[in-house]
Amino acid sequence: MKKISKKKKSKFALAASLICADISDLKGEITKLERGGIDYIHFDVMDNQFVPRFGLYPEMLKAVKRLTNIPVDVHLMVDDPEKAIPVFAEAGADYIVIHAEATSHLDHLVKMIRKSGSKPGIALNPSTSLSVLDYVLGDIDLVMLMAINPGILGHKLIPGMMQKISELKTKLKKYPDMLIEIDGGVSFESGREMLKRGANMLVCGTSAIFKPEGDVDVKIKEFKKLLSR
Ligand code: DX5
Ligand code: ZN
Repeated sequence: MKKISKKKKSKFALAASLICADISDLKGEITKLERGGIDYIHFDVMDNQFVPRFGLYPEMLKAVKRLTNIPVDVHLMVDDPEKAIPVFAEAGADYIVIHAEATSHLDHLVKMIRKSGSKPGIALNPSTSLSVLDYVLGDIDLVMLMAINPGILGHKLIPGMMQKISELKTKLKKYPDMLIEIDGGVSFESGREMLKRGANMLVCGTSAIFKPEGDVDVKIKEFKKLLSR
């Protein structure tokens, strides 16, 4: 008789960072992401203030939503998230993730996102303590840890972030459905370790799927397969 393995396979999701894609061929890139079976589209919004560059914009999100049903997580790297939330909610964001460092009114903004019809998430810069999450955990669907300093593509992962993932996982014991998203520096090697430590959603940017040679759809499938082993 065949022995049934009791080992439960860990479930995880991959989010493609759209800012790393070929923006001149949005339709083609999204078709490839669909073909590759990507789970989320990660949509970076930057204001050249909170981070030192500009990012993607609401009209582009509307175009993405017309092209695909893949859920979009909007990462707001802006100094004034209160102004951006209604704009991106209206444009169709499935998740809106705000930085704890960008507001003194985290509780208020999380509720504002929920009311606007999107799911709220909180992002933390590498040096921000997990304790800022303490009194809002019950109101959010996603926690995002930056594994690099935000706003820069293709940067090297900050090694101490692995320990931070483990600490977050412990903190979220009572929240089994929470998405634990890691943004920045995700490669095959680091991604494996991140999943082992408790992450369940990885942002695939330059290092994972957009920079290496080859077709993005094939690379997503390969990346998923390698991480599932
Ligand atoms: C960084 C962005 C990421 C970026 C990370 O601020 O939010 O989405 O694309 O991906 P890598 O590090 O692989 O370029
Ligand atoms: Zn991001």
